[in-house]
Amino acid sequence: MDRSDNLPFVVSSTHESPTEMPRYLMLAEALRAAMQDGRLPAGARLASVREAAKQRQVSLNTVLAAYRHLESRGLIEARPQSGYYVRAQLAAPPLPTATVPESEAQPADLVVLNQIAAVLAANQRQDHIDLSLACPKGGDFYPGAKLGKLVHELTRRKPELLTDYCLPPGPLLLRQEICRHAHSLGMELDPAQICLTNGCMEALQLALRAVTRPGDTVGLESPTYFNLLPLLDRLGLKAVEIPTHPETGLAVDAVELLLQEKRLQAIVAMPNVHNPLGCCMPLAAKQRLARLVNDYRVPLIEDALYAELQFDMPLAPAVKAFDRDGWVLVCASYTKTLAPGFRIGWIEAGRFSRDVADLKFCSSVAQPALLAEATGLFLQMGGYEQHLRRLRRLYAAQLDRLRGLLADHFPVGTRATAPQGGFLLWVELPEGCDSALLFRQALQHKISIMPGTLYSPSGRYNRHIRLSGCYPFSERHIKALLQLGELTNKQLG
Ligand SMILES: Cc1ncc(COP(=O)(O)O)c(C=O)c1O
Repeated sequence: MDRSDNLPFVVSSTHESPTEMPRYLMLAEALRAAMQDGRLPAGARLASVREAAKQRQVSLNTVLAAYRHLESRGLIEARPQSGYYVRAQLAAPPLPTATVPESEAQPADLVVLNQIAAVLAANQRQDHIDLSLACPKGGDFYPGAKLGKLVHELTRRKPELLTDYCLPPGPLLLRQEICRHAHSLGMELDPAQICLTNGCMEALQLALRAVTRPGDTVGLESPTYFNLLPLLDRLGLKAVEIPTHPETGLAVDAVELLLQEKRLQAIVAMPNVHNPLGCCMPLAAKQRLARLVNDYRVPLIEDALYAELQFDMPLAPAVKAFDRDGWVLVCASYTKTLAPGFRIGWIEAGRFSRDVADLKFCSSVAQPALLAEATGLFLQMGGYEQHLRRLRRLYAAQLDRLRGLLADHFPVGTRATAPQGGFLLWVELPEGCDSALLFRQALQHKISIMPGTLYSPSGRYNRHIRLSGCYPFSERHIKALLQLGELTNKQLG
């Protein structure tokens, strides 16, 4: 059956500006909508590439790219000698409800740190199933063998990498490669302004120390990355929670209001592939956010750690791409994509670059030269893009699988995000569930999850959990997820 003639999509413009959605994605979206509303049911055959190109007045390449995109998201499948067919979709839970009004609160750092310590300790044990941490595990996710070879070769060719003291700013090659790859997120960066850091965490810490003083107030997304809360607390900073939508991210209207009222000295945000929501802010919202922080002269610390793990190509740009006067400090690392053990991170701190470089020197001097050089070489050799493409397909498929398991085995009324990248799911459990209790019950069954209460300074989200999907899916993992579903059902009696 070929139902695609009924679809309304025709591209009239021959021009495609870099800020518009690419044509193949528009076509993929139109097809996806038709699958959702039943015009293209499971089993339907899509028009052939040639037919579709003719009907929709686009090139063969556009249709092919759209079909490949849908195929990589598991929505259609290619059957040899026959064409593309709509796949039967896994059941999926609805999205979580949009979140919270802002509130001012002191980060509850002890509670957070105690719970993090419990998760970390549990995950050290062999018999434990980790559904909690954002730490991809094993050879499926990292090019460990290639990196190992590079390190080996470098120690032989450049023994001084081990014997000479490493001083900032660190290997030029790596800083150049960071800037070259930053183009894919629309950023024009200067290698001289890149400060290498010990993971993204040190980058965030340096950024906060450079732009704030004790007693200042920092705007955070709600929910936010849990490790920011004890960090803010230790720096003597107050947090304001800013409403954050599970599909569109940080609410820029709320940011504008807070800036007008002069209530923020800095903002920390994850505009591309938010942790834990997995969402990306729409382009116009990012542009407006960049304009606002420049107009109000309030630093925005952009955590771009997961930005390269967006599922859709080309990658949506960073807010930093629209930074006019250097008020955006962008932080990232290669711990999720290349080598967690190398701990190579970086920050481009805009007008605060000098302060950040000074702070880095007096806190940890520099990065290990051998590991920084090996990372630079790997990025230069050209296998990184291919590796990222593979990761994106893998994580998109794993998250679909997780969402399917949630829909089938968790109580009715469970909601979950539909991430646009990364490997994390934010799950809202039905009324009557308690995620802190579920966290403790799961630990007794040797399963670790992240309780939602860790993700906001006010400890809200006590019906939410964060699940990760960055491990090879084994029977043990599936059993653990079913067990978690059972525990949740039991909570509801
Ligand atoms: C949003 C976010 N930012 C920063 C970090 C810290 O990253 P790194 O391990 O590179 O220090 C993490 C780690 O999970 C994270 O999820």
